Amino acid sequence: MCGIIGCAGRGDATLDTLLTGLGNLEYRGYDSAGVALANESLDVAKKSGELDALREAVADRTLHGSVGVGHTRWSTHGPPTDANAHPHQDCTGDVAVVHNGIIENYQQLRDELAADGHEFRSDTDTEVVPHLVEAALADGADPEAAVRQALARLEGSYAVAVVVAGVDAVFAARQDSPLVLGVADGATYLASDVPAFREYTDRVVYLEDGEFARVEAGGFEVTDFEGNAREVTVDTVDWDPEDTGKSGYDHFMLKEIHEQPRALRQCLQGRVDELGADVSLEVDPDVDRVQFVACGTSYHAALYAARLFRSAGVPAQAFLAHEYALDVPPIEDDLVVGVSQSGETADTLAALREARRRGARTLACTNVVGSTMARECDETLYIRSGPEIGVAASKTFSAQLAALNLLALSTVGPGDEQMREVIAALRDLPGDVQAVLDDTNAAEVAREYVDSDGFFFIGRGANFPVALEGALKLKEISYAHAEGFAAGELKHGTLALVTEDTPVFAVVTGDGEAARKTIGNVKEVEARDAPVVAVTDGESDVGRYADHVLEVPATNQRTAAVLANVQLQLVAYHVANELGRPIDKPRNLAKSVTVE
Ligand code: F6R
Repeated sequence: MCGIIGCAGRGDATLDTLLTGLGNLEYRGYDSAGVALANESLDVAKKSGELDALREAVADRTLHGSVGVGHTRWSTHGPPTDANAHPHQDCTGDVAVVHNGIIENYQQLRDELAADGHEFRSDTDTEVVPHLVEAALADGADPEAAVRQALARLEGSYAVAVVVAGVDAVFAARQDSPLVLGVADGATYLASDVPAFREYTDRVVYLEDGEFARVEAGGFEVTDFEGNAREVTVDTVDWDPEDTGKSGYDHFMLKEIHEQPRALRQCLQGRVDELGADVSLEVDPDVDRVQFVACGTSYHAALYAARLFRSAGVPAQAFLAHEYALDVPPIEDDLVVGVSQSGETADTLAALREARRRGARTLACTNVVGSTMARECDETLYIRSGPEIGVAASKTFSAQLAALNLLALSTVGPGDEQMREVIAALRDLPGDVQAVLDDTNAAEVAREYVDSDGFFFIGRGANFPVALEGALKLKEISYAHAEGFAAGELKHGTLALVTEDTPVFAVVTGDGEAARKTIGNVKEVEARDAPVVAVTDGESDVGRYADHVLEVPATNQRTAAVLANVQLQLVAYHVANELGRPIDKPRNLAKSVTVE
């Protein structure tokens, strides 16, 4: 979603710093971009489309300023045009504002400001902010007070950064949308996300909701909205700038798929003991019932996790977070777990807040240290997969599955299985994923079916979420139509769509009841002439009915699901690559969805 960068103290490098920051934020998804630099007046440039359009627009202009802000916009109010791109300015051109989030009372404010003679140039909700600052300045407020007065009028969610002509500072504030400061010698940064400025510093301050920052070359000051000083902690990020580069891969997604063995090792490190008998997490082990809330890929991880708890006899259910918040189920001593790689998804945050309001204990299962979810929940389980830049989640999903296994093992035990066996399978998982990556024939399968009319994915039990995830991954990066089903469900309607041009990917691991029944479903689609791709560990004879086989090492059924998913990630990647799609930045999508 929208990205913010700001800096003070970079002198002649201000524009470069802003453009570099915007480049680092591209992965969040955007459709226009802009910058504003403050000197005695403001220099502003903004363009719809890719960042290169902005780079071109500033190439033959001189933009000066010792402080500045930049923004990548993901449209909410108004289409992606130059006029709607941020920064937005007031009538005098002396105030420029970038904003993430949604200002809910913008129409009322806009009507009021328009009645006072302010002229609007965009369709955005954001544009009310510079006009409010302008009005406060006209009433005699100093620049900082004017920004505070403007913020006091806003309802909704926002991270904003403001520059004012003639002021050597960036003003910033956070309410329900992330904002982080970067602290270096002689320069200070602010951004919606650490990768924006990571190459300049690893020292960060995560702002809390209701905090206001004055950012200057020599440092920063954090207060509440009323101006009372707030204490902050300077944290150090534990990853390097190179972790957010492509390391020779064509796409971040492919790099991140290949990073999964490392991500899994990091997730498991220090949490499973050498003898394979125990799991230690810093989580209260007292769990009677669990509700999971999540969206998208993380919801698939939640479905998988709920099953683990149920298999141990503990009532557990996974909910789509946006539905949960509207229709909260009864909460009786439940642990409510928010699963979210970013830790910032607005829908999931809303569900967790509602659960907390009703007295539930909450736990964030996330990748991002210092994220809102991590800070708001009672407990946090970090999945430790390292930064994920590709919009489509890959290594974070695998690490979520591993971390949620650890959560289940450390609280309610191994369920139907033996502790030692599950732990051994988890310990083998990084190596097993590596084996899949080394031996996969997913590219060949992708080439064979790239022009299909549609794709179906089926699986049962732990492989049902894998089927859902396989379809989602393919849809979002290749734009092909794909659907995932519990294998038994296909015949209840969708079988009507199955033809010789719709390959069916059947995830069949083990040789138990789930495998046997799924093979029955495979025969049903085969009878309709659909090509079948079996994703299997070879424990059953599903391969006999398949046109292609994507193999995974034989292991415990819980971890087999992770391996099968890696094959499907690769299929999605190669189909999208064959079709020439912008894999790391799929259309209309954003890495961190911070609006409900
Ligand atoms: C798909 C994908 C999304 C996210 C969803 C929730 O590849 O990444 O479906 O899973 O937007 O995001 P998080 O996990 O950050 O809460």
